[in-house]
Amino acid sequence: MAAARILLIVGGGIAAYKACELVRLIRRAGAEVTCVLTDAGAQFVTPMSLAALSGQPVHTSLWNPQDEAEIGHIQLSRAADLVVVCPATADLLAKMTAGIADDLATTLLLATDKPVLAVPAMNVRMWSHAATRRNIAWLRESGVSVMEPDHGPMACGEFGPGRLPDPEAIWRAVEARLAGIPAIGLAGQPGSDERRTPLSGKHVLVTAGPTHERIDPVRYLANRSSGKQGFAIAAAAADAGARVTLVAGPVALPTPPGVERVDVESAAEMAQAVAAALPADAAVMVAAVADWRIADPADEKIKKQGGAPPALALAENPDILASLAAGPQRPRLLVGFAAETHDVLAHAQRKLAVKGADWIIANDVSGDVMGGDANAVHLVSGAGVESWERASKQAVAARLVDRIAAALAAEPADG
Ligand code: CTP
Repeated sequence: MAAARILLIVGGGIAAYKACELVRLIRRAGAEVTCVLTDAGAQFVTPMSLAALSGQPVHTSLWNPQDEAEIGHIQLSRAADLVVVCPATADLLAKMTAGIADDLATTLLLATDKPVLAVPAMNVRMWSHAATRRNIAWLRESGVSVMEPDHGPMACGEFGPGRLPDPEAIWRAVEARLAGIPAIGLAGQPGSDERRTPLSGKHVLVTAGPTHERIDPVRYLANRSSGKQGFAIAAAAADAGARVTLVAGPVALPTPPGVERVDVESAAEMAQAVAAALPADAAVMVAAVADWRIADPADEKIKKQGGAPPALALAENPDILASLAAGPQRPRLLVGFAAETHDVLAHAQRKLAVKGADWIIANDVSGDVMGGDANAVHLVSGAGVESWERASKQAVAARLVDRIAAALAAEPADG
């Protein structure tokens, strides 16, 4: 079993110093790392620091005759098991999207045939700019893993999403990504050829959490979903080697390692994010999507005006699961959830038929399930009902992911 080899592209941003710590963590785990530093990156860290920490020459220019004679940039892009871009600046992400190759880093990214993990870090406004949103959506669609940045105070004095995650969290994402690649390993850990990665090469889409439906700028309709079960399923699928897209409603949960998270608020945004994440081999729709939204949300805060309270007119939200089932890009396996307070199995069987899902995972939420850590579920399918004993949400997730892997493996190749 060969040691994992990582090509680390260090872009230009104040967070570049954290790439040095990442190099240390990679080597501590027994993997090899070769660094490529962009011109902008070299404004923040020196080739000398990266060379000393990685124990390898650092590559900085496309126009280095010695490098080109000894390795060649195509070779450099292919010798690695995984390419990590950290920090991935808005500029690097844009060039990756456009296929621009105007320096060593971008040329390697265009030439590589290996999986790529991008770890963005940038100013909050650059992160939320429509161009960056579009680029990230496109990169994810094309198979690039893009980590979500952390929220918090930024070097520029602003606050919000855009901070580079901690090197430890980045390392866990790297490790999860490596786990999906056969026949490489990390010292002191079982190699991925020995690890169980039955979803390797598969894309699993998970929705989780509640949705918030806007009433006015300060109020919304919501439900009690905590997102815990959906996040546990996303984590278990990533652990099983899948590429996982997790479309999350508003919840305060950390992103599981190796999972690509897309945060949304409303059902309409969730429907859009789900459509953008396709195609997928399996979709597990755990989110408690609001059935209704406010037909005409107010642009300004609604004031008490004496007399009768305002009447809120509701409009029905799109059924994301049913649309996915009926759409042209239906995943091979479509799993819905049904949270019920009574007649659990009867409702689940009806939903299986009405929504066009392959399985419905039904649970009784009349007790402490919502927000709690345990769940007792029934797997309802065309083949009948299986009732699983009450277990932690992680254990339910692991069991479901095993079943998903078995079902996908059983599908005919052209299924
Ligand atoms: N779902 C969805 N889009 C919606 C509503 C629900 O994708 N607008 C999905 C949920 O993610 C879940 C399944 O459908 O996987 C069942 O959701 P549930 O809210 O229980 O079903 P409803 O259709 O809302 O049925 P009811 O209100 O009658 O319980």
